[in-house]
Amino acid sequence: MSTVSEKDTVARPFELLLDQKRIEKRIKQLGEKITSDYQNQSVVLVGILKGCVVFLSDLMRHIKLPIELEFISAASYRKGLKQEDDIIIGGGVAVPLKDRHVLIVDGVVDSARTVSTIISRLQKEEPASLEVVTLLDKPGSHRCKVDLKYKGFTIGNEFVIGFGLDNTQRYRNLPFVGRLVDR
Ligand code: IMP
Ligand code: MG
Repeated sequence: MSTVSEKDTVARPFELLLDQKRIEKRIKQLGEKITSDYQNQSVVLVGILKGCVVFLSDLMRHIKLPIELEFISAASYRKGLKQEDDIIIGGGVAVPLKDRHVLIVDGVVDSARTVSTIISRLQKEEPASLEVVTLLDKPGSHRCKVDLKYKGFTIGNEFVIGFGLDNTQRYRNLPFVGRLVDR
C-alpha cells in the first residue's frame, strides 16, 4: 500500500475560482458545439483518468450523438505541487480507432506533456480525426506545442482543485473549481 506523508494530507487553503453555475453553462455550450461539429457522425470519447471524470460525465450528456466511451489513465508523478518528470500511461482503448472520430477528454492541461503523449499514441491508430476537449487550460504553462480544439476556461499558472481535480488525491468531489492559496 502506498503511503503519503502527513504534510500531504493536511488541508490546504483555497479560494473559489469558477462556480458551479458558470461551469455548468460552459459545459453545455461545449456539448452543443461538439454536437454540431460532428453532426451525423459517431465519436469515441477517450477520457484521461482520473481528472476527467466529473467533466466527462457532465459533458457527455450534452453531446447529442452516438458516442462510445473509453479511458486511459495517466499520472505525471508529482508529490503535491512539485511536478516530476515521469508520465505513466496505463490502460488502453478497447475499440479499434482506425477511421473513427476520436475526442480526448481531459480535466486540465498544464505542461501539455500528458495530452501530447496520448495524442502521439492514439495517432498511430490512424483515426479519421483526433481532437482534444479540456475543461481547463493553462497556456502559460505549456512546455510542448499542442492544439486544443475545445476548452472550457483558460486559467493562469496556478494550482486548481475540485470538479475532478485533486491535490494529493483530495478535493476531487468539490462541485466547483478552487485555486490553492498560500497563507
Ligand atoms: P500536464 O502537465 O499537462 O501533463 O498535466 C498533467 C496532469 O497533472 C493533469 O492531467 C492533471 O492530472 C495534473 N494537473 C496539472 N495541473 C493541475 C492543477 O492545477 N490541479 C490539479 N491537477 C493538475
Ligand atoms: Mg493529480
